Amino acid sequence: MTMKFDASHGLLKEEISSYQDKVTELHKAIRSRTGAGNDFMGWVEWPASYDKEEFARIIKTAERVRDKAEVLIVCGIGGSYLGARAAIEMINGLYPEGKTEVIYIGNTFSSTYVSQVMKHVQNKSVVLNVISKSGTTTETALAFRVLREFMEKKYGKEEAKTRIIATTDKARGALKTLADQEGYETFVIPDDIGGRYSVITPVGLVPMAIVGIDIAKVMEGLHDAYTELNTADLNKNPAYQYAVTRRIMQKQGYNVEMFVTYEPQMQMLAEWWKQLLGESEGKDGKGILPDSACFSTDLHSLGQFIQQGKKVLYETVLEVEKPTEDLHVEADEANLDNMNYLTGKSYDWVNKMAEKGTIEAHVEAGNVPNLLITIPDMKEYSFGYLCYFFFLATAMTCYMIDINPFNQPGVEIYKKNMFRLLGKPGYEK
Ligand code: PA5
Repeated sequence: MTMKFDASHGLLKEEISSYQDKVTELHKAIRSRTGAGNDFMGWVEWPASYDKEEFARIIKTAERVRDKAEVLIVCGIGGSYLGARAAIEMINGLYPEGKTEVIYIGNTFSSTYVSQVMKHVQNKSVVLNVISKSGTTTETALAFRVLREFMEKKYGKEEAKTRIIATTDKARGALKTLADQEGYETFVIPDDIGGRYSVITPVGLVPMAIVGIDIAKVMEGLHDAYTELNTADLNKNPAYQYAVTRRIMQKQGYNVEMFVTYEPQMQMLAEWWKQLLGESEGKDGKGILPDSACFSTDLHSLGQFIQQGKKVLYETVLEVEKPTEDLHVEADEANLDNMNYLTGKSYDWVNKMAEKGTIEAHVEAGNVPNLLITIPDMKEYSFGYLCYFFFLATAMTCYMIDINPFNQPGVEIYKKNMFRLLGKPGYEK
């Protein structure tokens, strides 16, 4: 099994296996797509059913634009942003050598941010991927207006067309209309896959492919998870073990789950995870607040609260078995920093010892439950696998508390108020 789940430090007061009957029933609802929100369950069969011709076109397009892309600008928000960034940072790292620089925009109204991005890319060779299912998301549409003008001014209308790629609905929406009219290459966001489940569609795959990520390997990992995790048996399905454990945590009174990584390049994965769990589960006054931390960095800020503060949270540690790169501590004759006791040790070993010591401290001295999810590495296959793992766990954990995991009605409320304040026609009062 590519991913492992370990609840032995979870301080659980119930047996995971006691939920077997419930899980068996809900597993059927997930795999047969008969549960709540089933019109947004295209992700369930996607590892087998995805459009292979479109997939080949993604690879071709990526090859076509890669040489032109000193910078790739990805314009999108929420489900049309976080997945791509999570994948690219996890797989390529934060400072990958010789790779296309990626800039994310369309995810903020900050004038300072947008202005600085525009200045930063002014003299660089740019390719732009605008991503929006609805085509009407204000943050994205506004940024795209600025970018479109920039691209046309910089390259002229004809060349700009070859550098702009739109990922959107197959038929509807303002972005689709605009892309067709301008002649941009387009990729489809399937009708039955919601934003936070869409990283495995062109939403995530196009930017990944442009920056040189092997998307076939991503799909291989996804497919293997789809096959291996197709079992209701709680002894054999770590995604469901995790889902059940979350249920037990809720019953034990925990309101916050802190997703912990020990790799800075996984911080955006944590952001993606937060949207996936938070937007799926946070309804009807229910749900666990998804939070995240990167250790050991945040042990020097949040560590005190976790250790001795109010007992509101449990931690889920995502452990990476093998780092992408490693280095060893060299001997230093003077040893003024007193670090010689680590001579010959690898940095990753130090990181793992920090993790071990922290789990022990938080669980034993702090009485904070720790769950452990393990992935082999931060490569393409593991990313694909973990997507399906978390999708499945999310569906199961929501169904266990009678929540539809695939809608997000609450997100619209701020938009209505904002539209009224902005004077958008139709939202006057
Ligand atoms: O999960 C969601 O539905 C949201 O995060 C959306 O993905 C986000 O608002 C972007 O929407 P769109 O792709 O329509 O621009």
